[in-house]
Order: sequence, then structure tokens, then C-alpha cells
Amino acid sequence: MRPAHVGAQYVRAIQQHDSDREARGAFQSLALRHVPPGGTIFDFGAGAGIDARFFAEQGRCVRTYDNDPRMRSYLAETCRDLIEAGRILPETGEYAEFLARNADPRAPQADLVIANFAPLDLIDDLPVLFAKIHALTLPGAGVLASVLSPYFLGDLALGWRWRGMMGQWRTGRLSVPGAGGNIIRRCLRVFAAECAPSFTLQRVFRGRPPRDALEAAGIDFALSPRTAWLHLTRCRFMFLLFRREPAEQHGRAHRAVPFSAVA
Ligand SMILES: C[S@@+](CC[C@H](N)C(=O)[O-])C[C@H]1O[C@@H](n2cnc3c(N)ncnc32)[C@H](O)[C@@H]1O
Repeated sequence: MRPAHVGAQYVRAIQQHDSDREARGAFQSLALRHVPPGGTIFDFGAGAGIDARFFAEQGRCVRTYDNDPRMRSYLAETCRDLIEAGRILPETGEYAEFLARNADPRAPQADLVIANFAPLDLIDDLPVLFAKIHALTLPGAGVLASVLSPYFLGDLALGWRWRGMMGQWRTGRLSVPGAGGNIIRRCLRVFAAECAPSFTLQRVFRGRPPRDALEAAGIDFALSPRTAWLHLTRCRFMFLLFRREPAEQHGRAHRAVPFSAVA
């Protein structure tokens, strides 16, 4: 999958709108809560390295992978100082190579894997990716992913949204051709099924800065599993926090959420 914009052009496009800048700020703040200073983040679909630089400057070690060689070159150029200092560790190669590669015993295992601005929506086979992520992470590690919300009402102005509605209701997926491949919006029940058995979907957040402490804690699906998805209708993105077992090792254990009952 090739993005419409790469390198400097991508950075300009993704920093142009307030809503995207705010979504990135919210994602970064949430991620920092889940990896201690000195801990390791693996940035999957790292793109131009905007988050990699941010987290490295916040005292985290950042491993990166992106399958687009033009994005990797841009990251290598613009993050050269941090790469030379050993604070950003980029990986290279085609996606199939990335999946097949054995873990490097010298590279630190990740406390948190991030995938910001929807890299997971560009992956057909999520169970295979989650199995790979399992090999990259420590027990109890998290995966924080920003994905396009299939519940977003703003998309209703678009023809493909209506055409895909019945299919989404049946399968929990909505696949739309993008600049270089399909963009797959998945409902929460699909993410919950496809991250198993190595991970569980633990929390869901609106993809924007939280207005208060309650919103910062995420949407309470355990309270109202059938209707809580309505909270996701007004944001383009949703942030999903997956947890590698054992979940209890990472602070407060959350109640198991029956995402299979979610629309
Ligand atoms: C919208 S960009 C997001 C980039 C970055 N995470 C950010 O926050 O700006 C999506 C990225 O996912 C990458 N991507 C797509 N398919 C991928 C794959 N199979 N493996 C790794 N990265 C992939 C693209 O090359 C692109 O850089």
C-alpha cells in the first residue's frame, strides 16, 4: 500500500488541519501514559517519523517500521540525529520480510506498539500482524492504534458510505479503495476477534483531545455494550488500546468488555 503523499509532502498534508493536529496530540498524550520513561515503543507504519521523533525526545527508545521505502528514507534523513544517538532504531524491508524476520535479540522488546493515523486500516490480515506484534513485545505490553471510525456520521455525505452500509452491518467491515490499496474500516467486534488470541481489546477512546477526566479514561462499553458505540459517531478516528496478556501486570485490571455484542 502506497500513501497518496510521502515524505515532506505527507508532513505538510497531515499537519495542515487543526483536527489532525489535535488528534495527534491526543494520541501522543495517551501513548505516553502507557510507556514509562526509558521504556520502548515500536512505531508500526511510522511514516515520516513525526511520532518517532516526539517519543524519542520524550525519553523513550523508539523502534520504527514502515513498508514504504520513501517514508523510511525521509525518516532516516530527518531523524538522523536521534538514529545516530541510538534513540530511534529503524527497521527496513518489504512487509513480508518484516513479518518473517526473527526477533533481533539485541533490540529491546516493546512496552507499547503504536500505529497512528490508521496503518492498521491498510492491513488485510490483522491476525498475522498481531502474531508478529506479540513477538516484538514484552508480556503485558499494549498496542495503541488510531483507526478510522466505521461509525463516523461525517462520512454519510459520501456515496461509498451508503453503498457499504449493508456489508458493514453483515461483516463488520467496510473496505474502500484508497490511493494505493484498500482502506478497511473495521467495527469493534472485528478488531476484538482479530487481535486474539495474543491480545485483547481493552479500551476504546474517541480520537480527539478528552474534554474531562471521564473522557480521558475511555468509553465505558461494559456499562452499555449495545449503545456505547454512539460515542464514536462524531470523530473521524477512534483510538484502540489492546493488551497482551497478562493484562493485570499493567496497573488496574479492566473489566472484560463483551465487544462481540457491539455493533
Ligand atoms: C497515514 S500514514 C501514518 C504515518 C504515521 N504513523 C503518522 O502518524 O503520521 C500510514 C502509514 O502506514 C504505512 N503502511 C501501509 N501499509 C503498511 C505495512 N504493510 N507495513 C508497514 N507500514 C505500512 C504507510 O506507508 C504510511 O506511512
